[in-house]
Amino acid sequence: MKTSEIYNLGIDMGIEADFRGRKGVEKFLAGKKEKFEKLSLEEQESFSQEALNNPYLDSRILNISEDKEIKKVLVGIDIEPAEILIAKNLDGIDLIISHHPLGKGLASLSDVMELQADVLAYYGVPINIAEGLMRPRIDEVSRGINSRNHERAVDAARLLKFNLICLHTACDNLAAKFLRKKIENNSKIERIADLMDILKEIPEYKKATEIGAGPKIFVGRPEARCGRIALTEITGGTEGSPKLFEKMAHSGIGTVVGMHISEEHKKEAEAANLNVVIAGHISSDSIGVNLFLDQLEQKGIEIIPCSGLIRISRANG
Ligand SMILES: [Fe+2]
Repeated sequence: MKTSEIYNLGIDMGIEADFRGRKGVEKFLAGKKEKFEKLSLEEQESFSQEALNNPYLDSRILNISEDKEIKKVLVGIDIEPAEILIAKNLDGIDLIISHHPLGKGLASLSDVMELQADVLAYYGVPINIAEGLMRPRIDEVSRGINSRNHERAVDAARLLKFNLICLHTACDNLAAKFLRKKIENNSKIERIADLMDILKEIPEYKKATEIGAGPKIFVGRPEARCGRIALTEITGGTEGSPKLFEKMAHSGIGTVVGMHISEEHKKEAEAANLNVVIAGHISSDSIGVNLFLDQLEQKGIEIIPCSGLIRISRANG
């Protein structure tokens, strides 16, 4: 497989696992096209055409130094110049894959956050409320990442002649779908303790537990009943609006399972009587990345994990 084929596979798997379904993703892209066509010629020139075909602008091809057949990839949760130097010291790395967005992928992180409104609607939050509260939060995230040194790792890859891609929301969608399957409609889960037991059976969380980064109850007690469990904090860029917790509680959600939560959000969840279980950040990221990497492994590509990735292969069942 060439770099672009690997990347396209990641995007396609992300669409397949998307909360909105393939049809919903197509609708999202059609909406962008409609917006694009209404722009003036001058505005159209500065619009990234990629946005018309790629629903995850935080997942990108960042550098192709040599468009060759890929046999060995270095994959990490965060790729920084240090990891690119590591690649230089390893033998035969053809491609570096970062989970967290870099370069133009990082600059576009807020673009994927619209997905969160659909995730919330899936769990019963009225779409007008979800969209209304997400809109200012998306703008806030967009301003927040504006000052970052987006191209640092991309420059390093270019200088050291490495192919580099990032797959963020595409992989987070895979983690969300995997966890939904494990948790939703699982008759064994009544209380938070049951939920914790199920999470701790997942190999990535088991390994994270060994280093003290396993699933933790941030709000609630082990004996508390879960009510409806929602996976609203796994995919869709980054944290949503703190004001959403009260709305989620009113919409029938009892427990939120997420990757991470800020103190401000935790306080809002407490005030709304929502339970919050934080499954773990890097471990949850690893689940999504692993499900993608299994496909590469099956095609004979060698995987070298780095930068926190807890590599678990499910390639052979
Ligand atoms: Fe992450």
